[in-house]
Amino acid sequence: MAHELIFMTGATGVLGQDLVKELLETTKADIAILARAKGRKSHSDRVAKILKEMGLDRHLGARIRVIEGDVTHHKFGIKKEDLEFLERECEVFYHIAALTALNGTEKECQLINVGGTEHALELAWDLRKKGKLGRFVYFSTAFVAGSIWNHCSKEDALPKNPGFANYYESSKYKAETKVREAMTKGMPTTIIRPSIVVGHSVTGVVSDFNVIYPFFKLFAHGALSKLPTHLENTFNIVPIDFVIKATCEIVKNPKSLNKTFHLVSPHPPTIGALLKMAKDEYPNVPPIEIIDPKDFQKSKMTAQEQMVFSIMEPYLGYLNGHLTFDMTNTREILRGTGNHLPKTDSAFLKTMIHYAVKAGYLVL
Ligand SMILES: NC(=O)c1ccc[n+]([C@@H]2O[C@H](COP(=O)([O-])OP(=O)(O)OC[C@H]3O[C@@H](n4cnc5c(N)ncnc54)[C@H](OP(=O)(O)O)[C@@H]3O)[C@@H](O)[C@H]2O)c1
Repeated sequence: MAHELIFMTGATGVLGQDLVKELLETTKADIAILARAKGRKSHSDRVAKILKEMGLDRHLGARIRVIEGDVTHHKFGIKKEDLEFLERECEVFYHIAALTALNGTEKECQLINVGGTEHALELAWDLRKKGKLGRFVYFSTAFVAGSIWNHCSKEDALPKNPGFANYYESSKYKAETKVREAMTKGMPTTIIRPSIVVGHSVTGVVSDFNVIYPFFKLFAHGALSKLPTHLENTFNIVPIDFVIKATCEIVKNPKSLNKTFHLVSPHPPTIGALLKMAKDEYPNVPPIEIIDPKDFQKSKMTAQEQMVFSIMEPYLGYLNGHLTFDMTNTREILRGTGNHLPKTDSAFLKTMIHYAVKAGYLVL
């Protein structure tokens, strides 16, 4: 391969797919993708299908090489010949793979998010010592700061005792701690911390409806009628195109080494704005009663609502609105690059929900 080689985990996921597309379209880099087999589909068939859907299959075998592996294994269980290839060629390593389900169990989150990151670092040290790895890019989350407490999260640090809403958050905290330890020991690192990633800023398009979308579905389809929050509470969402473009801009800048970047909305929408938009645009959406969290009693709900509520509990932190994010590094590095901080106003909420309806995910 004649150009810079990027190695990426998580390329079959929502962010990874769009990042691969952006890198192919805007750089000359070659990309080695780690993928696993699923069901009856081989690792390579899965990647080929995704690339075909994106109209990028011409790059397979040319700029793209698929490497079989699973992040839960040492050095991802990569075959000797592929390891040697990475040791020879890899300059940038993006570790994006994670279990992103907010209702993941402690064991699953530990195995994939913490164990997976330990294995990524083990491999990164190998590529650094034996090869020419110049940068380890780690996809963390803004919610490593724990979503259920009142705090302004700084970029270049992790808080001491955060309040976590679920095992996803606590496992990402432990994983980022490992990455920070490696950074202090000399691994050249960039940490990207998006908030809740949603559809494209102009079209609302997203390749899968994960993380916050299932939460919207519970309300839109009338499965739950009460929400313990305040109308003025915010929820921090960020359009996917901003996250992808900002990441590429950050990673190509040498000043981003050994820094962390919050890719979040500077003015997140309120629960009130979301409910108003839903009422104006979709009058058939069942009404939602907003209850002060201190007066909220799960036991007063019907048995069925209690069951649905337990599905929703891992999301509650995201509606808390008291967790805010410092964006000093992000503002500084994006200044003058044409990448503006995202707008997540009512017009954007409308775009986001319209696309989920158009794609058949929400039936309103
Ligand atoms: N989406 C968000 O709102 C958001 C916000 C903040 C941070 N992040 C972070 O950004 C990253 C990407 O998120 P996403 O939304 O794109 O996630 P996603 O759509 O759920 O994709 C997860 C990716 O991880 C891979 N993966 C999971 N377990 C694996 C394993 N054992 N071995 C190999 N690969 C494995 C998946 O591969 P398969 O296709 O084989 O399952 C998939 O490519 C994650 O680290 C997440 O924590 C996401």
